[in-house]
Amino acid sequence: MRLSNRLPWATESASPLLSLREERERRGEPVVSLVSTDPTSAGLDLPWGEVAAALADIEAWKRYRPDPHGAPAAREALVSFYARWGERVDAERIFVGASTSELYSWLFQTLGDPGDSVLVPEPGYPLFDEIAALAGVGTAPAPLVPRFSAKGELLRWAWEPERWSVPPKARALVVVAPHNPTGAVPTPEEWRRIGEFCARRGLCLVVDEVFRLLGPRADEPTCDWDSLGVPVAVLSGLSKWLAAPQLKLAWMRLYGPEADLRAWNDALEHAADACLNVGGPAQAALPSLLPLVDRASAALAERVARNRGIFLEVFSDLASKVRILSEPFGWYAVLALDADEERLTLDLLRETGLFVHPGFFYDFDEGALVLALVADSEGLRAGFGLLRGWLEKNYL
Ligand SMILES: Cc1ncc(COP(=O)(O)O)c(C=O)c1O
Repeated sequence: MRLSNRLPWATESASPLLSLREERERRGEPVVSLVSTDPTSAGLDLPWGEVAAALADIEAWKRYRPDPHGAPAAREALVSFYARWGERVDAERIFVGASTSELYSWLFQTLGDPGDSVLVPEPGYPLFDEIAALAGVGTAPAPLVPRFSAKGELLRWAWEPERWSVPPKARALVVVAPHNPTGAVPTPEEWRRIGEFCARRGLCLVVDEVFRLLGPRADEPTCDWDSLGVPVAVLSGLSKWLAAPQLKLAWMRLYGPEADLRAWNDALEHAADACLNVGGPAQAALPSLLPLVDRASAALAERVARNRGIFLEVFSDLASKVRILSEPFGWYAVLALDADEERLTLDLLRETGLFVHPGFFYDFDEGALVLALVADSEGLRAGFGLLRGWLEKNYL
């Protein structure tokens, strides 16, 4: 049987760290993950009763009414939701999908042909390469640059589009804000330069706001997208905003020059129409689910803030050898250390059962460990303490 070459499908090509983790689990040996980001198994106080009530209105969804943009009432609810932040959204320029990952697929399918590429942040969310490859397009790096104080402390990660080398057939730039996993957020000046860069290079701008509610200015418009003069798609969804990935509902809103938007809209309608994946009940419930976003995201934000405090308590005074490489937004924390991170993470798992991600999973330039701040705080405090002790003994 012949398979496509879009991805190395064989499971033997999985990383040694993931294989070791699987092996331990198979043998019944403990694995304590310090990178769990599943909000549904983190003991958060989430409004499940209200979610169930929102889904119980059977009359709202029992008839099948397919629409490639998503149910009109769901889109109108999104328009009102964004209006409270002073953001203009056109219901005719919204697409509702099953996840932001699905929306990325539609974007990459509609923007590129084989041989074309999209610029994705580096370091960054590892799934972009895979989603792009499945859509038949390549990726090229848009590197973020860490800036340090004279004392070697991280000041911020900067977007410097003027320094990026752009393949001739690049079609789009992806910006994640707050960024995964560094927590970085572009300044207004950086957004302006990102817009200018896209205009000069003829790129569409894809903005991922899944971590907006774990960012510094959630209730202010991120940017005046129309003022950038390029086609922009802004993505978000219930996976992070309601801490409910299993509801399978996300959305994107389009901005930009009208002629571009008309063509892009038609193309996206084709991509969405081909599968119509998002379920009717979740769409029908959206007007009642959006008012729950504040409560769910506050529970998540409080947890992440507490865990970030624990992270800083445990790791700050290792600063000369182990630097903190993340900003305080999003739900990850990153440590930089001068070590062979693959060997380190394998030894750590073998000797302690602790599972952390090596920086190369996210394409960090330097040696790094990525930790997540979503899980139960006491468990995480114990895990961070064990990690610190093990690092002191073995690597410092
Ligand atoms: C930056 C970023 N974008 C998108 C996603 C995917 O979210 P969804 O569940 O909506 O596909 C993730 C998941 O962790 C993410 O970190």
